[in-house]
Amino acid sequence: MADAESRRGSLENSRHSDCETRDVRHNFNSYRVERIVDESFEVKSFYLKRADGRLVENYLPGQHLMFKIPTGADGMTLRVYTLSDIYNSETYRTSVKKEGPPIENPTLPAGEASNYLHNTLAVGDIIEARGPLGDFTFDWASKRPTTLIAGGIGITPILAILKGILRDRPNQHIHLFLAFKTTRHQIFKNEIDHILKQHPQIICHLFFDEMSESELSHSPNSHARRIDLDVIARILPDLQQSFYICGALPMMTSLVDRLKDAGISDQDIHTEVFRHSHEVETQPIDTRHYEIHFTHTGKTILWTGEHKNLLEFAKSHGIPLTAGCMTGSCGACSIEVEDGEVEYTHTTAHKPKDGHCLACSCKPKSEMRINA
Ligand code: FES
Repeated sequence: MADAESRRGSLENSRHSDCETRDVRHNFNSYRVERIVDESFEVKSFYLKRADGRLVENYLPGQHLMFKIPTGADGMTLRVYTLSDIYNSETYRTSVKKEGPPIENPTLPAGEASNYLHNTLAVGDIIEARGPLGDFTFDWASKRPTTLIAGGIGITPILAILKGILRDRPNQHIHLFLAFKTTRHQIFKNEIDHILKQHPQIICHLFFDEMSESELSHSPNSHARRIDLDVIARILPDLQQSFYICGALPMMTSLVDRLKDAGISDQDIHTEVFRHSHEVETQPIDTRHYEIHFTHTGKTILWTGEHKNLLEFAKSHGIPLTAGCMTGSCGACSIEVEDGEVEYTHTTAHKPKDGHCLACSCKPKSEMRINA
């Protein structure tokens, strides 16, 4: 078996030197649905093979695919879903939660893309996806002990990262904290139990915030409460850990703020936020006006503040920009800012490289020149 360094080396090389690999990652390819597995009443796993019979591209645990889903006003929506398992050359596994209307506003529509995958996509169907992409991956250079924390469907990259670490370092000590509403919402239970049996050094605690102590009395290391840093700090030997956290925004915000207050540096806090698509669409209308020059298409358009972000603005004027999650998590909408400034409408999980911005999550703060 190749060791971790050579495996990562070959993946990095494949990223930078092989044109075909780059095309696979950055162009859309067709995948055939091989198998669909119910993980719970609201989560399904989709096993995908390349439709052209080739092997699937290698990836780092924690990365995702961006799918073209035939739904939405334009007849096509881009959505990002995490690969929930480690690499095998034959298939990708992605696990998707069926997104209902937001709890705080049940009159808003349910997530069309996830509902399409759950209700319409069938074994044998073809679906297009690009990637794998994403930078919520394990930092192999870190010497700190590892703590993995997941809330709900946030378990998908955390499970892949856990399995990725154990594939290369089977004896690594890891603390694993998993939070769900109830045991009915718990997913990958058998897979996690199997891992714990194979790797007894891993310490796993489960949190169920809609259950009582009596309902969990026969489940060791299970807690009838919301996960927070107080309980995590009581379980960990100390907080000098490398944290990988994935879940919904409220859980993430509270944990990350508390970890920073406790003196944990940014480089030891790795996060991926899973947002409901409605969560980022509540910004007030901004009435400032700026000229925006799209240098590639040669268009100059006046920003009048009626759009929620640069991506929506560009799209409404016929300038197509690539996008995925629409929440600032995947980096797909990153565009080069040649001149000018933006302001973000919310904190993004993905940090664009210097001189770029995430069009789905920002608005102009001045006149701008954008390479699009
Ligand atoms: S579309 Fe994913 S970060 Fe903008």
